[in-house]
Formats: sequence, C-alpha cells, structure tokens
Amino acid sequence: MTMAERAIQPQGERRSAAGLFTPFRLKGLTLANRVVMAPMGRCFADHGVLAPGYADYYRRRVEGGAALILGEATSISTSGSSNPTSPAFYGEAAIEAWREPVAAVHRAGGFFMPQIWHAGLARSPGCEPYPQVPSIGPSDWYIPNTDEKLCPRPGRRYGAPMTEAEIEAVVRHYGDAAEAAQRIGCDGVEIHGAHGYLIDQFFWPTMNQRTDRYNGTMRDRARFAAEVVAEVRRRTRPDFPILFRFSQWKLQDYDAKTVETPDDLAQLVETLADAGADLFHVSVRRFWEPAFEGSDLTLCGWTRKLSGLPTMTVGSITLDQPFGVGTDDYQAHFLKAQERKLDYSSVEGIDRLIELFDRGEFDLVAVGRAMIANPDWATLVREDRLDELKPYSRDLLTTLD
Ligand SMILES: Cc1cc2nc3c(=O)[nH]c(=O)nc-3n(C[C@H](O)[C@H](O)[C@H](O)COP(=O)(O)O)c2cc1C
Repeated sequence: MTMAERAIQPQGERRSAAGLFTPFRLKGLTLANRVVMAPMGRCFADHGVLAPGYADYYRRRVEGGAALILGEATSISTSGSSNPTSPAFYGEAAIEAWREPVAAVHRAGGFFMPQIWHAGLARSPGCEPYPQVPSIGPSDWYIPNTDEKLCPRPGRRYGAPMTEAEIEAVVRHYGDAAEAAQRIGCDGVEIHGAHGYLIDQFFWPTMNQRTDRYNGTMRDRARFAAEVVAEVRRRTRPDFPILFRFSQWKLQDYDAKTVETPDDLAQLVETLADAGADLFHVSVRRFWEPAFEGSDLTLCGWTRKLSGLPTMTVGSITLDQPFGVGTDDYQAHFLKAQERKLDYSSVEGIDRLIELFDRGEFDLVAVGRAMIANPDWATLVREDRLDELKPYSRDLLTTLD
C-alpha cells in the first residue's frame, strides 16, 4: 500500500487494521502481511546450541499469523558470546541446530531471519562460556554497573580498544554468520546494531572514545557498522535481505541517545543504506513517541523519510508498559522504582499503531512481549478479537511455549 493510498482513509471512522494484513515485498520475498515476531533472547541453548523446542516455538507464531520471525540474538564469535545459554551462529553444531527451526517456520508458510549479534563490552570479563577470551569494544571502558553478577568489576576500565586487525576479524565473523544463514536456508539476516551492544557502542559517544576514523561525526561512528553491512552484502546473494536494527536506548541507559538531531539520523541511515542495508528496524520502547522536538514524526517515520528505505516499528505494541527488564534483572538497578513493575503489562488497543501506519511511518511492525503471551497475536488482531489478547508477564519466560 502506498502512502497516498493510506492517506485516503475516511476521517472520523474507527481505523481498520486491514492495512497491516496486506502483503509486503522485501527484495525477493513477499511477506503475507506486516506482522513480524521481534527478536527476543530466550536463552534456551546449551553452549550456543539451540534446544529442540525452538522449532515448535517459532512455528506456533507463524501458525498464529506472523509473516516473519526474527530469531533471538545469536552470537557471531567467542568474543561476542556473553552467556552459555545464548545461541551461537558459528561452529558447525550451533549452526546446524538452526536448520530445524528455519524449516519449521517455512513449513508453516513463514519466513525466518536470525539476528546476528556481538555483545562487545556488554559482556563481563571472564564470563562463561569463554572466560579466557577478552571482552572487546571501541574503547577500554564500560559505564559503572552495580550488578556484580554481570560486571564483576563495576566502574573499572577493562577490555582494550579494538585494533584495526580485530575490527577486520569481527567484520569477517559477521560475514561468516550471514553466509552460514544463507546456506542453511534463512530468508535474510538482521544485524543487531541496537541496545548498547558492540555496534551500538561504536555509535554511542559515551562508549566510543576512539581517536581514529571510527569516531568523530555520526558518519564516522557508523563506519564500523557500515563495514559490517558491506561485508554481509558481499558474502550473500544480492537479493538476500539485510535488516539493520538500531535504537536510541541502551540496556545500560534508557535515556541515552545515538542521534540528537535529524541530521545525525540522516548521516547514520544514509551511511548504512549506502553500505547495503535494505530495511531499518527502529527499536524504541514506546512506538508512538515523537523523535525530535518540533515534529510529531517517530524515529521510525524519520528513518523512512530520510533513508527512503522501508522501516519496521516496535515497542509496547498492544501493551501498556514498555520493555524494561529483559530475560532477567539486568536492568533492575537502573529502573526507577515505579518502573520495576515492568515484568507485567496489560493489554492496550491498536488504534494508535494503525494511525501511524496510515500516516506512512512504517512498513512492518515487530511484536515482542505480546507475541510471547499470544502466539496467535496476528490472527486475533486481524479478526478484531483484541479482547482475547492476554497480558504479558515475565513468568512466561520460564518456558519456551
Ligand atoms: C525476553 C526478551 C528478550 C529480548 N531479547 C532481544 C534480543 O535478543 N535482541 C533484540 O534486539 N532485542 C531483544 N529484546 C527487545 C525486543 O526485541 C523488543 O524490542 C522489546 O521487547 C520491545 O518490544 P515489545 O514492547 O513489543 O516487547 C528482548 C525483549 C525481551 C522481552
């Protein structure tokens, strides 16, 4: 549906969700509708190898109407792995374990893309599964963290700024993972450039204190990401979609900003688009919030306008509380007392989402926690059965249902 077609929606009538259930073409793929399962780390892997339950877990969301599944963050190398229960996308056993979930999604009529990820310095020194491997990042620094479990030396400097050779090696590892994803039948990849992990550490001036060409303007801070995108493009078929996820917020600081102005954003998205990104997945915690003063446009809307590429929105879809805690209490120390209830979220309506879709701010919508609670989220919304949606609770994370 073009922006002009969306704009002819009659005024004053309740908006219909039908637009979300129109097909969408992304390179060689035709998605049946605009509903995507957001990438969510469920951490049911054993030393990087997925548990068998993932095939059914993802299949159920496709049977429930989602057109595309974004797999949970999966690490590209030993230095990128911060947890033995997180899946990996390197090493034969770990890569092979992805085949069955991908095939299950395909059998159900959906598409699957893994989210390839490197934790950077959001990885405690000495943590499992590779305690001997040093943590690396743009600079030798990490913001003070009061969580002893995740950062055993809070407030200390650790790690070393990545050398050019280390940057080259990590870029190559992203390429290896994307090539493997294509080989085992994935339909594209999402590059995780959000939430304070390695790529985002380069974007974020607080953590990028380099004095070389990887720091300076936003374009310079995007150089590492652009090299990753270009390598993934080079190592995959020209029609293999590359999604790029970025965010303002960081797990280390919800109020942090990657971009302060539309000009910063233009530099970021133009650099990544030139490198070969096909779609931007714009991660915010509340999808409707305006991005910059003086305009109603969301970050997703701005990204679509400035890049000319399609975008995916996300953040509190049909939920009344934003994402806050993740898989454990990682963020609890940083939350204000009133936000600590975020492990539970009630059901919200869909009108605001449709309004933004009709305004042409996004092409696809990623649904996170609401799709953990409701594998059939897409069907319930399409059939206007919102009253059947269940709320989200962190208790749901204990099993892979
Ligand atoms: C349990 C859990 C795990 C998550 N893991 C990831 C992840 O692996 N990669 C990522 O980019 N975002 C991750 N997120 C963030 C979600 O993709 C999404 O952006 C966030 O939950 C907001 O969407 P929602 O309000 O619909 O849940 C995770 C969220 C949750 C709740």
